[in-house]
Amino acid sequence: MKKLTGQDRSITTKWRPATQAVRGGTARSHFGETSEAIFLTSGFAYDCAADAAARFAGEQKGMTYSRLQNPSVEMLEERIALMEGAEAARCMASGMAAMTAALLCQLSAGDHLVAGRAAFGSCRWLTDTLLPRFGITATIVDGTDNDAWKAAIRPNTKLFFFETPANPTLDVVDLEAVCRIAKDSGLKTVVDNAFATSLLQRPMDYGADIVAYSATKMMDGQGRVLAGAVCGTNEFINTTLLAFTRNTGPTLSAFNAWVVLKGLETLDLRINRQSENALKVARFLETRVPRTLYPALESHPQHKLAMKQMSAGGTIISIYLDGGRPQAHALLDALELVDISNNIGDSRTLMTHPCSTTHAGLSAEVRAEMGVEEGMLRLSVGLEDPLDVIDDFNRALTAIGL
Ligand SMILES: Cc1ncc(COP(=O)(O)O)c(C=O)c1O
Repeated sequence: MKKLTGQDRSITTKWRPATQAVRGGTARSHFGETSEAIFLTSGFAYDCAADAAARFAGEQKGMTYSRLQNPSVEMLEERIALMEGAEAARCMASGMAAMTAALLCQLSAGDHLVAGRAAFGSCRWLTDTLLPRFGITATIVDGTDNDAWKAAIRPNTKLFFFETPANPTLDVVDLEAVCRIAKDSGLKTVVDNAFATSLLQRPMDYGADIVAYSATKMMDGQGRVLAGAVCGTNEFINTTLLAFTRNTGPTLSAFNAWVVLKGLETLDLRINRQSENALKVARFLETRVPRTLYPALESHPQHKLAMKQMSAGGTIISIYLDGGRPQAHALLDALELVDISNNIGDSRTLMTHPCSTTHAGLSAEVRAEMGVEEGMLRLSVGLEDPLDVIDDFNRALTAIGL
């Protein structure tokens, strides 16, 4: 592999994020390809037995086995780390593999964590169900209440874990304040930044230690592959996390890494256009449904904070209807252009009913505490002309009597 400027940190860290998203991490084989190569190989051959031994001893740089390293995956890891402003990143097979690894690699029986109550269903399953099975307890707090984070700290607390904006209630956590509370108590902060991505918000700029991703969402951006990533210091990524991932194997495939590399090339364009579209759609919905939540709307309870730490509102809107599940399902069924889908961050506009899909695995009490109501719908705005999306909602809302 030929090292390019894309792999020279003395150059790449000076690039602006949109440039990093196109070129960061790129290496070239002897063929000189412009688009990154896909290294679909599980193993690697060595010139001599001593080389194999040296690589396993960590004395020689190079690949050994794709569960541990792969050239396509490494290009993506370097690109994601650069965009985040992190020393290093490690990619994983899905967002949930990334969240699970980011927590389990550093927690042990007897440890405690504090987590934001508004979260993707599977993230709540981790904190509420999986971790307690291994003697790791969690206190769940209202992530928007800075004092609640502080009050929940115990002598055995190791970290804070939260999403901002959160899925699907769009709660916004005060990154600066909450990361400072953690630092003052010697705790690590793990932030799930899937909704904003590093192009709208960089939690490390506010003091976060670890940033984790579902790269399935905006990073791929076209609904093609599952992927995840964890960003942090060299020490955390290449010692604490690597020990966990190399031995448990939540590895990202080279093909999926390549798809996400291609996705990142257009992330800056997509996320900014989709945020503009989302704001237009949110402004329309606000005039037609009882409650619309979108961080860039002045009516969002934490609008000011959101706009302080994010450069745009993102692609996700949540709405609340008064007629509960029957009315929410009726609206979904009346839409023609917008697809019913529980995925987000696609170039297509997608809508789901969290209560019966993404958050169906949680108890009714946990859903109620989070604000995931029967009449709530989550919308992921895509790249279509927003006027067509608005027309679709206008027609569908009229059809169900709203
Ligand atoms: C905020 C958030 N975190 C994590 C995940 C999990 O990601 P994946 O589906 O790639 O495992 C999702 C998926 O929707 C999500 O929205």
